[in-house]
Amino acid sequence: RVRLVNGTGRCAGRVEIYYKGTWGTVCDNSWDLSNATVVCRQLGCGVAMEAPGSAHYGEGCGQIWLDEVNCSGGEAALWDCPAEAWGQHDCRHKEDAGVVCSEFTALRLENSNSCSGRLQVFYNGTWGSVCSNSMTPDTMSLVCKELGCGDEGFLETDLPYGRISGPTWLDRVECGKMNSSFWQCPSAPWKLQSCDDQREETHITCSGAAEVRLEAGGRRCAGRVEVKHQDRWGTVCYIGWDMKDAAVVCKQLGCGSALQALSDAHFGPGSGQIWLSDLECQGTETALSECKHAGWGGHNCYHAWDAGVVCSGFVQLVGGDSPCSGRVEIRDGDQWRTVCDSHFGLEAADVICRELQCGTVLSIPGAAHFGEGVGAIWDEELQWSRRVRLVNGTGRCAGRVEIYYKGTWGTICDDSWDLSDATVVCRQLGCGVAVEVTSSARYGEGSGQIWLDEVNCSGGEAALWDCPAEAWGQHDCRHKEDAGVVCSEFTALRLENSNSCSGRLQVFYNGTWGSVCSNSMTPDTMSLVCKELGCGDEGFLETDLPYGRISGPTWLDRVECGKTNSSFWQCPSAPWDPPSCDYQQDETHITCSGRRPEATPTPVAECPNSTSCTGSCSSMCPSRLARLSQLPQ
Ligand SMILES: *[C@@H]1O[C@H](CO)[C@@H](O)[C@H](O)[C@H]1NC(C)=O
Ligand SMILES: *[C@@H]1O[C@H](CO)[C@@H](O)[C@H](O)[C@H]1NC(C)=O
Ligand SMILES: *[C@@H]1O[C@H](CO)[C@@H](O)[C@H](O)[C@H]1NC(C)=O
Ligand SMILES: *[C@@H]1O[C@H](CO)[C@@H](O)[C@H](O)[C@H]1NC(C)=O
Ligand SMILES: *[C@@H]1O[C@H](CO)[C@@H](O)[C@H](O)[C@H]1NC(C)=O
Ligand SMILES: *[C@@H]1O[C@H](CO)[C@@H](O)[C@H](O)[C@H]1NC(C)=O
Ligand SMILES: *[C@@H]1O[C@H](CO)[C@@H](O)[C@H](O)[C@H]1NC(C)=O
Ligand SMILES: *[C@@H]1O[C@H](CO)[C@@H](O)[C@H](O)[C@H]1NC(C)=O
Ligand SMILES: *[C@@H]1O[C@H](CO)[C@@H](O)[C@H](O)[C@H]1NC(C)=O
Repeated sequence: RVRLVNGTGRCAGRVEIYYKGTWGTVCDNSWDLSNATVVCRQLGCGVAMEAPGSAHYGEGCGQIWLDEVNCSGGEAALWDCPAEAWGQHDCRHKEDAGVVCSEFTALRLENSNSCSGRLQVFYNGTWGSVCSNSMTPDTMSLVCKELGCGDEGFLETDLPYGRISGPTWLDRVECGKMNSSFWQCPSAPWKLQSCDDQREETHITCSGAAEVRLEAGGRRCAGRVEVKHQDRWGTVCYIGWDMKDAAVVCKQLGCGSALQALSDAHFGPGSGQIWLSDLECQGTETALSECKHAGWGGHNCYHAWDAGVVCSGFVQLVGGDSPCSGRVEIRDGDQWRTVCDSHFGLEAADVICRELQCGTVLSIPGAAHFGEGVGAIWDEELQWSRRVRLVNGTGRCAGRVEIYYKGTWGTICDDSWDLSDATVVCRQLGCGVAVEVTSSARYGEGSGQIWLDEVNCSGGEAALWDCPAEAWGQHDCRHKEDAGVVCSEFTALRLENSNSCSGRLQVFYNGTWGSVCSNSMTPDTMSLVCKELGCGDEGFLETDLPYGRISGPTWLDRVECGKTNSSFWQCPSAPWDPPSCDYQQDETHITCSGRRPEATPTPVAECPNSTSCTGSCSSMCPSRLARLSQLPQ
């Protein structure tokens, strides 16, 4: 069988062939249009319009099945063409061949990054226009949904004069409520001559499109409301402006709840376009431009009437008689937590009043003066707006570095991330010093904000955010560059040759695996080790041990777990690094009663099974490997 992978639709993509139970790729040596046409014909996709090589559609994985393909043109299938023997090649996956067939279709709003522009369809190898005759809200809605641009589209009418450039592919597209894809909608046949002036083309702005920002409020979460449309920022008219509208803006910006909806250019008048007026948000919308409004640029307004908003940001005051008094609630991810009064002092209150633009602190009533909150309580000392944690390592002293700032956890980019930077994190967490820095999202990719980039600590700083770095949130990174650290206080447990449930007991400490002496070793201790490793309930001490000096450090001795201990790390023991055993015969070797499911590491080049490799192996297989090798070796 043959298929095209990672294009949109089935008629474009990386060429893959199923043979001997595995999907494999085709090398781009001597790959050209005529050869690619055999593939298109085979798939019922017409003829080849483009034959990109060099893994244009991403690198495949596993086998490279064919190389030096040399079709004569009449073959019914690619594998009927002369080529090297199956699997014989001198290629790497970065040479994977692809094809765009004539029947490949696609949809875009020109300048494809945005959710607004000229509607175009790709057909027979070229982008072409869609005439706007019979264009309905249902059709535009389907276009926007299909492009991930919100639920609704609006037809632009302010269009230039002049002849259409390029072909016109479609007209009279009339989607109904039951159509779930643009391509199901009835339309006039391909390539008609029914419109030739640009004013008859379809230009759409989708509802999900418009970004919003708050200007001149002195912080991200308060200010004059501005929306971006047709690549230009413009303001919002106060007519119809209310708390529901303001709430949608705050939500869209991740700024918590709305505290005030302001009018009459409270934050100063804007300039340029006044984009929106007469907004009628329900409050459930996720973006301001999804709310009903008078049409882009449709207004009867002056900048002196520009609308503004104050959002709570990462903190809100609830249950008081104004937005400037009430019970303190802090945003943690997507929930609000109340703050225990024992953790709350003048300094914290001062930060909140300033953040909310509420002047200075008048009083700090405790004892649930504004009523008791519901839900979670913030049970740590408040470290204003900034905290650090390590995620997805085992234990709290190794993992992906994350910082809490402005109500959101975000990551650090690994650009110029080094031991001095990482040591500041370890010290801050009471985890000693850094023994290893990790990059390229070794502890998984975070999500949301990337808070810091180009961090350049000298190593003596008290907190990571005291180090020189780009401004908060400023970076040129993706989450696959997330930084991590292994601190010296990070501890872990294994039976050497870690896949199995039997072997030399080792603990990871201060950056190295070391031994555990067997003095005072009890069944309870061994049982806890086995349980902790998922190796059953019981362990047996091996006694048939080799002679010779211990290699590596000896970290622990006299570990004596009791029945009440639920983790190995709770058990009493001699202090770290006891000089109490030197010979391999004194080390602890354990065989546990259970077994762990086999986890067989797979070499990068061969993915375990073809179906999981429909995507790019270069991104999938190595990450699976990374997971297996996550513990420091
Ligand atoms: C392709 O096949 C033709 C004969 O059909 C042959 O002359 C030519 O050398 C071959 N080209 C390659 C690159 O193998
Ligand atoms: C396939 O590619 C080879 C090498 O470029 C070329 O010689 C051959 O003519 C192509 N096949 C067709 C049908 O054009
Ligand atoms: C598709 O393009 C090819 C060449 O680019 C042309 O020969 C063919 O007529 C076109 N088909 C349509 C339906 O426009
Ligand atoms: C699409 O909607 C039209 C009505 O507008 C209907 O006639 C047609 O059957 C629908 N097609 C599909 C595949 O749903
Ligand atoms: C943890 O890290 C692994 C890779 O090491 C990753 O696949 C997984 O998604 C991560 N989980 C979280 C919650 O970040
Ligand atoms: C880091 O800071 C040092 C001074 O402390 C400076 O010499 C160096 O150029 C900086 N490196 C980067 C990448 O900014
Ligand atoms: C941990 O390792 C560092 C250097 O690798 C060393 O300076 C330090 O003394 C070690 N600490 C302990 C408790 O072994
Ligand atoms: C672990 O067990 C010992 C007794 O063996 C006990 O003294 C100690 O308090 C326990 N620690 C925890 C945290 O349960
Ligand atoms: C798809 O192709 C793009 C390049 O066009 C590549 O970056 C991406 O990794 C590919 N994804 C898969 C799943 O192959």
